[in-house]
Amino acid sequence: MTFGSPESTIVQEDTMIENGVIADNLNPSHISLKVCPPSSEAYRAIVPQLATLLKSCIDANITMNFIQPFSIEDASAFWLSAEENVVQKKQFVIIAQESSEDEADDNDSRHEQHVQRGPPVILGCVILYLAQLPNAKHRAEVGKLIVGREHRKRGIGKMLVDRMEDEARKHGRKILVLDTETGSGAELFYERVGYSKAGVIPDATLAPDGKQYTSYTYFYKRL
Ligand SMILES: CC(C)(COP(=O)(O)OP(=O)(O)OC[C@H]1O[C@@H](n2cnc3c(N)ncnc32)[C@H](O)[C@@H]1OP(=O)(O)O)[C@@H](O)C(=O)NCCC(=O)NCCS
Repeated sequence: MTFGSPESTIVQEDTMIENGVIADNLNPSHISLKVCPPSSEAYRAIVPQLATLLKSCIDANITMNFIQPFSIEDASAFWLSAEENVVQKKQFVIIAQESSEDEADDNDSRHEQHVQRGPPVILGCVILYLAQLPNAKHRAEVGKLIVGREHRKRGIGKMLVDRMEDEARKHGRKILVLDTETGSGAELFYERVGYSKAGVIPDATLAPDGKQYTSYTYFYKRL
């Protein structure tokens, strides 16, 4: 399965080995980062996995625009609704996935064993929204950064952010902005990967359980 142009595929094996952050059960040579055009058949094939990632966050009461009840169909509808903006190159979905066998072979000649693999497993995702206002063509927004629970704290979130930043640069963006729930693990993550806090908006939104207000911390990073 392929997404985007061949040059959009980056296998970050060296980075992962150097950092020593990938657990033994994830073979670094079988992970790749890709930019997906949601108009493609390939993108639609992974929408169920993207939907599962999003729903798992809402079910864990992580603030991410939606409130309960939130079904897997609602989550799928969100990802499919991205299609028009992506076709128009207003936003990009970047994924971390287990590479196909061919890609893994291409990227790691040291693999001696032939391993049968199923369809690629999506490990995480992030969306890059290119600002469209006439006075903001140098800016982009980051959203829906999600790493599957079982794959967290292994460097995949940082890899997604690095790849997303490369894509932003490619499109002439010089500053990235995002908001995330105040006091959350994601807030600590963004600080760790070099984002600066701009401020907090108290009680900005409702948590997915619809019971409590949560505050947003705004971050930015100059590229
Ligand atoms: C936030 C999230 C994407 C981080 O992904 P990840 O793959 O676990 O992050 P990484 O392993 O790349 O971590 C990079 C750095 O951030 C730190 N970090 C990651 N999660 C952290 C947490 N919950 N608390 C404190 N630090 C954290 C790591 O320790 C690492 O620091 P180091 O460089 O000193 O080792 C992931 O926890 C997630 O999907 N959370 C649920 C969804 C969410 O909240 N998304 C953000 C919405 S805006």
